Amino acid sequence: MAEKEVVETSEAEIAVHWQEEDYVYPSPEFIAQAWMTDKSIYDQFSLENFPNCYKKYADLLDWDEYWHTILDTGDAPCWKWFVGGKLNASYNCIDRHLAKNKNKTAIHFVPEPFEDKYEHITYQELYVRVNEFAALLRDFAGLKAGDRVTLHMPMVPELPITMLACARLGVIHSQVFGGFSGTACADRIVDSQSRILITMDSYYRSGSLLDHKQNADVALKNAEKNGQKVDKVLVWQRYPGKASSPTEMVSGRDYFVNEVLKDYYGKRVDPVSMPAEAPLFLMYTSGTTGKPKGCQHSIGGYLSYVTATSKYVQDIHPEDVYWCMADIGWITGHSYIVYGPLSLGASTVVYEGVPTFPDAGRPWKIAQDLDVNIFHTAPTAIRALRKIGPDEPAKYTYNFKHMTTVGEPIEPEVWKWYHKVVGKGQAIIVDTWWQTETGGFLCSTLPAITPMKPGSAGPGLPGIHPIIYDEEGKEVKKGSSKAGNICIQNPWPGAFQTIWGDRQRFVDTYYARYCKDPNSKRWQDWPYLTGDAAVEAPDGYYRILGRIDDVINVSGHRLGTKEIESAALTVNEVAEAAVVPVAHEIKGIEPDLYISLKPGFDASAELAQKISNTICDEIGKIAKPRTVWIVTDMPKTRSGKIMRRVLGAISNKKDVGDVTTLANPEIVTQIQEMVRN
Ligand code: WT7
Repeated sequence: MAEKEVVETSEAEIAVHWQEEDYVYPSPEFIAQAWMTDKSIYDQFSLENFPNCYKKYADLLDWDEYWHTILDTGDAPCWKWFVGGKLNASYNCIDRHLAKNKNKTAIHFVPEPFEDKYEHITYQELYVRVNEFAALLRDFAGLKAGDRVTLHMPMVPELPITMLACARLGVIHSQVFGGFSGTACADRIVDSQSRILITMDSYYRSGSLLDHKQNADVALKNAEKNGQKVDKVLVWQRYPGKASSPTEMVSGRDYFVNEVLKDYYGKRVDPVSMPAEAPLFLMYTSGTTGKPKGCQHSIGGYLSYVTATSKYVQDIHPEDVYWCMADIGWITGHSYIVYGPLSLGASTVVYEGVPTFPDAGRPWKIAQDLDVNIFHTAPTAIRALRKIGPDEPAKYTYNFKHMTTVGEPIEPEVWKWYHKVVGKGQAIIVDTWWQTETGGFLCSTLPAITPMKPGSAGPGLPGIHPIIYDEEGKEVKKGSSKAGNICIQNPWPGAFQTIWGDRQRFVDTYYARYCKDPNSKRWQDWPYLTGDAAVEAPDGYYRILGRIDDVINVSGHRLGTKEIESAALTVNEVAEAAVVPVAHEIKGIEPDLYISLKPGFDASAELAQKISNTICDEIGKIAKPRTVWIVTDMPKTRSGKIMRRVLGAISNKKDVGDVTTLANPEIVTQIQEMVRN
């Protein structure tokens, strides 16, 4: 069992502590068809064979110019992969499939409303639409290689089309999760210095057509206030030619894409041959300070890594129909809806809406309709579907050969339901542990080689060599099941290159902690700090316990507690704010918010509501606190630090421990009573 004393963590303390489960083995049928069945793959990718082993991954791509140096460590720890190589990501995801597969479906689009028909976009159609939009981006929006462009788009095929059009030009896209607010979008526009925003007028969510255009107006206003002027807003229409948003277009600034596109009909754009180490996109993620970090991912390294892991871990074959239910606005969607599957020439599903609309049978209906056989989702969705519609999967005829779970630890109970009921006892499961920063999977079983173990992510992928350190930087004994900070000893091609515009923060956050020599140019001296706590079982399987920093994982996605606190502090009446993680049946973790008010203000339900609304406006609904507790004072140390640990214990109805050394121990009982009632 994990020993809580080893690492002082917020989440590990409330992480579920379960027993090691028994192995579950893949079926002979699965093994017979799997891409990767060669057990020597782990030796081929051992540390002795590093970095040359990764040639195998690079060779899954088409290169305009082949690289000469596999790994350049000269600018440690900003690693450069496949140096000297030139390629284009859009060419690799589209053009190279045309000769043999132009008629094959690249994207199956499933609109949320039942009455709307599915769309099946072939590789040829994808080629045409990406080319025409790339021409528009170049000639109408004036974008060129190296420029950044912010996308704030929902789950529609126009999103991958936009990403691939950018990639065709070497333009760096930065897609902001559609559910984020205009304010959150503005921060990312400013940080990436985008002159162009690409959005959509509206989209469906839980049965309503949402006005999304209004977020663009908020984003532009805020961005300009913070020094970044956006020249043009390109607005895709959910229904081309039809007004679906009440928000007005601003003349000379906002343009409907489908109107401008008419001028680009039939245009073709040569894919720009880009250096392997040029950036492909930015993906913002939460850190310990308020400001989100723009994780910069490369073209060559990233694309080779997601292609290889899609092939060997997702086991995607040409005739498979692959559905990852994540949102493309997160890294999971970038890597495992768009770039990985399309680079392999697979058919990938894009579903617009929520999995439980109109009922919890929706995913299984979609799976039946499209004959999906590879399915990919997160524990939060599995918990919701299990709770709301435990009997739904049995009502539909579909056959999954393979399923993925990603984003947070999955409880063995939930794993078993996923396996037995959703997977009908046949599908193999991979529990993939990774991060926005890592581009692709770090730990997972290889589906035909390493058996599954409920609740465990599994061993490091071939070529990924994890190591667990204690607080002092000593290695925690391998296989000892003792908790510590999990790091990766070696670089890998999918790793992000830096934080956009902030190399120092990149080094400080991810490499400084266990660096053996800051002047070293050897990769061996720079273990990558993931920020997660983990234990390694005797069989080399890793169990992830959660984050060690001030970041909480809500529904499989990271939110900075400081971001939420800063949002609360923008409300005039608020003096102090403290966010703590609370265990939640479906979301895994949920933020609970404690507030103390400035003198002269009184607590009220309206004020609590106002604070909650502000957080949704500033960040998005995903950050909405479970409860806003307005307290008369925060429990504090004698030096005045808010004791979040005590508040966390109260929220989770746990023992608060010894509080006698606090400056104000009496407040603890008072808050406990408030929360209990
Ligand atoms: C954090 C990364 C991975 C893409 C989606 C989330 C947690 C992720 C697992 C897993 C246990 C997991 C970690 C990680 N996490 N996958 N299979 N088991 N925990 O990306 O928002 O960058 O979050 O999610 O804590 O550090 P992200």
